[in-house]
Amino acid sequence: MSTLIIKNLYAEVDNKEILKGVNLTINGGETHAIMGPNGTGKSTLASVVMGHPKFKITKGEILLDGKDVLKMTVDERSRAGLFLGMQHPAEVPGVTNSDFIKTAMDARNKDGKKVSLFKFIIEYDKAVAQLKMNEDLPHRYLNEGFSGGEKKRNEILQMKMLKPKIAILDEIDSGLDVDALKIVGENITAMKSSELGLLLITHYQRLLDYIKADYVHIMMQGRIVKSGKEELIKRIDQEGYDWLKEELGIEDERVVAEAEKERIILGTCATKEALGL
Ligand SMILES: Nc1ncnc2c1ncn2[C@@H]1O[C@H](COP(=O)(O)OP(=O)(O)O)[C@@H](O)[C@H]1O
Ligand SMILES: [Mg+2]
Repeated sequence: MSTLIIKNLYAEVDNKEILKGVNLTINGGETHAIMGPNGTGKSTLASVVMGHPKFKITKGEILLDGKDVLKMTVDERSRAGLFLGMQHPAEVPGVTNSDFIKTAMDARNKDGKKVSLFKFIIEYDKAVAQLKMNEDLPHRYLNEGFSGGEKKRNEILQMKMLKPKIAILDEIDSGLDVDALKIVGENITAMKSSELGLLLITHYQRLLDYIKADYVHIMMQGRIVKSGKEELIKRIDQEGYDWLKEELGIEDERVVAEAEKERIILGTCATKEALGL
């Protein structure tokens, strides 16, 4: 069983602080969900854990089974068992889907041995069928021309093949219609085991109807502001986030922006008046 510990994590991009003290522990066998309004840093957290070079970590730690993740390169993180299902998966023309996954699987074998092609094809075809994906998929270039839903299923296909210890799925439900959501949800649930720690980042309760989360965390303004269980998911779904903002004394960005606009207009008027314009 693996454990991922995120301790007081601060991160910035282009000198803008996005993560402001995130604390989270995920153990193998647990399913956590992070919910929260847009632009609060959920995808940033996922990218930082996986090692996107765009972000600068200014404070805090990430440990996987006691090892310092922040010192690892992206491929080392993947080999150590971390996996990220991306909100916006990239298209890679020229690399076929099956080559991509096979290469990633081969790279995980420490002794340099390759996965047998025969075994790979059987497992790959089985996963494609379970996800009800098109059979031409192995030969198509990675995500090129895929619909939003196909890209998301393809992320889960990779997860099925790579068998990570800790998987972060960033808005895996966006772009999926109800039928696809059910298929993806069932496939993820089928992967649950004491060996897998799961972090689902989502906007809607809908995904959590298909994948039961043990813990839910609400992220706002770069940190986790509330953690709970099922009852918290229901309340967010019914009432949104306003009650929580009020409870925590977090100002609504829109209200702050309006007030700032008004202040500038008033200031301009006063200046004009003083100058007799
Ligand atoms: N290169 C960048 N420069 C400045 N701000 C950025 C950059 N990239 C992302 N951000 C900002 O970081 C914040 C968090 O983004 P993100 O982590 O994608 O939020 P979420 O996934 O919660 O919707 C947003 O306000 C976004 O505009
Ligand atoms: Mg996001």
